[in-house]
Amino acid sequence: MKNEVLDNLDKLGSCARDDFKNVTDSKKLDELRTKYLGRKSALTDILKKVKEVKQEDRAEVGKRANEVKAGIESLVETATKTIENQKLEKNLKEDWKDVTAPGVRPQRGSLHPITQLMQKTEDIFVNMGFEVEMPYEIDDDYHNFESVNIPKGHPARDAWDTFWTEDKNVLITHTSSMQNRVMKNKKPPIRIIVPGKCFRNEATDARHEHTFYQVEGIYVDKGITMTDMLGTLKTYFEAFFEKDIDVKFIPDYFPFVEPGGQIALTCVLCDGKGCKVCKGSGWLEILGCGMIHPKVLEMAGIDSTSYTGFAWGFGLERLIMLKHNINDIRLFHKGDLRFIKQFN
Ligand code: PHE
Repeated sequence: MKNEVLDNLDKLGSCARDDFKNVTDSKKLDELRTKYLGRKSALTDILKKVKEVKQEDRAEVGKRANEVKAGIESLVETATKTIENQKLEKNLKEDWKDVTAPGVRPQRGSLHPITQLMQKTEDIFVNMGFEVEMPYEIDDDYHNFESVNIPKGHPARDAWDTFWTEDKNVLITHTSSMQNRVMKNKKPPIRIIVPGKCFRNEATDARHEHTFYQVEGIYVDKGITMTDMLGTLKTYFEAFFEKDIDVKFIPDYFPFVEPGGQIALTCVLCDGKGCKVCKGSGWLEILGCGMIHPKVLEMAGIDSTSYTGFAWGFGLERLIMLKHNINDIRLFHKGDLRFIKQFN
């Protein structure tokens, strides 16, 4: 009897060792635990037989039975740990989160179309070697008018409907208000653009706003000519509209430039074929410009006998309207989300 029981215990032990080698999930582990340690297990059956073993052999058989039981329990324990580790590793691989990684900022809104295209404009000119300077939104009479050759009482003042503050300062009517400062503070070669908000005291309609953005440009050095101006502006317009564009100079009057004029571009809507927007001409008059008046150079302390320069000023909204086919300038400041969201 003793040998039979010992034999069965050994067989059970080696059987268990084989079985536990293949445990890969907790369901299988539960099955084996019941099979080897449960109430109806082979071990229970064998233990029942210990009573039938002779008195003097019982201690030996009982000891072996306990060893086999402890062996199986440790197999269960090892398998449990292995399965837990495997689960952990799988989670780490699949659900990996680096808590030290920088967060992803949720997108809340987007830049206003004016901001977007102002940035594009600045990038284009910066790539051509221009610096960017911001204007004062409220400035004095001298900088907005007198320093650009529009003395008090000059009839040209009527061309700029002006908002005056009570202390006789000006909500700048154009970014030319920075021409004098920029030329005074820098030494040639001077290449500056001044993007900024301007104000005009006039009735609004689809093409006119009391508040709008201008981009002024100033280039002063020895030997600067009109050709440089046309080339600079053509380069800008081609980069802005992302297509080939022709420019031409149409004489016009501004007190601070001589000769002064307008730049006209190939109509970007019909590519010069003639349409409603360009009134069939194929051209769009888009900005004021010219060679800086010698008086304006001198007022800024630049010797007009050795230096020349050009300046321009254009309204940014007009360009955005052409680029995106927008028919009313008032949309820009209306705060209508249906409009704004189209530029996300
Ligand atoms: N300041 C002018 C305007 O507001 C534009 C301009 C700038 C014209 C520079 C010539 C030279 O209309």
